Amino acid sequence: MGCLVSKKKPDENKKIDIRVVNVDEAHKKIPDDVSDIIEKYPMPPIKDYDSSDRFTLQHKFFRYIWQSNFSSPIEEKLLSPDFKVLDVGCGPGTWILEMANEYPNASFTGIDHRTLFKAEPPSNVTIEYNDLLTTLPFDDNSFDFVFMRFLAYEITEERFEKNVIPELVRVLKPNGYLEVMDINIQGGNEGPVAQEFTSAVQSFYNSKGINSNITQKIKKFMNSTNIVDVQVLEQFHPIGSWDEKIGEVALKDWILRLNHIKINVQKILGINEERYKYSLKSFEEEVDIFQTYWISKRIFGKKKMIDEEN
Ligand SMILES: C[S@@+](CC[C@H](N)C(=O)[O-])C[C@H]1O[C@@H](n2cnc3c(N)ncnc32)[C@H](O)[C@@H]1O
Repeated sequence: MGCLVSKKKPDENKKIDIRVVNVDEAHKKIPDDVSDIIEKYPMPPIKDYDSSDRFTLQHKFFRYIWQSNFSSPIEEKLLSPDFKVLDVGCGPGTWILEMANEYPNASFTGIDHRTLFKAEPPSNVTIEYNDLLTTLPFDDNSFDFVFMRFLAYEITEERFEKNVIPELVRVLKPNGYLEVMDINIQGGNEGPVAQEFTSAVQSFYNSKGINSNITQKIKKFMNSTNIVDVQVLEQFHPIGSWDEKIGEVALKDWILRLNHIKINVQKILGINEERYKYSLKSFEEEVDIFQTYWISKRIFGKKKMIDEEN
């Protein structure tokens, strides 16, 4: 298998409701170097999906889709000793443990406010329990690379802009890279059921002060700090089995996500459990008809050197 998303055209006769992108537009956005990919990282095993830890499978899914664990230009520097990485909201540590194993010379610190990390950390990994919404217990300019993945919908927009990004920039060394990765709540080519779910999930987040379009704003937030040369990369991946096998993993992940916030979504939609299950079933069928996409983003940039600051 060579492509992340094949170049096949959607059926011209099929009525597709295009809310975000059409399929051809999405394909144009897939960078050449990943559209003809050498599979460094294999596809996650679909059959094990339900029985495995959800974060681990999510990790494998996105690693396969991006064929990398990060996009900042730090690959070579990671080989040198003294390179310091901070993983913000490290959860069970799937990313940090894999990175620490791949780059044994670098040292890694993971922070989280929950004790999800259960492994015995290797010698180049330290895990600390800190709340990201407070001042972090690190000096200014401590890390060469600060990475934060899948936290955008856990933090209000105000906190994200005013506390989180500035705090991550504070602990980043000049010339170091800050990278934030997350998914868009709204997919491409959503059918009516997906649109209904998306609107409900958006209302749920909005009611908590969380911006469901936050991925569109991260570049601006970074630009308003000492971060320069900000780049935004996007990957479009199919949901369902209409294109590539990997879409089946994406579909299962969506179903798990929707089940996770079921009570809230049910309330917003005003439907009972039975109706919810029926809608999920319809969603599963609909994604193949509409050729629904999922979009993830990596936003990264470099901290200015001190003499560049003025
Ligand atoms: C969806 S998980 C992502 C885990 C990991 N980054 C990954 O990519 O697999 C979000 C993580 O962020 C952590 N988190 C959320 N809010 C936090 C906060 N205010 N301070 C520290 N960690 C937080 C959660 O405990 C959880 O482990």
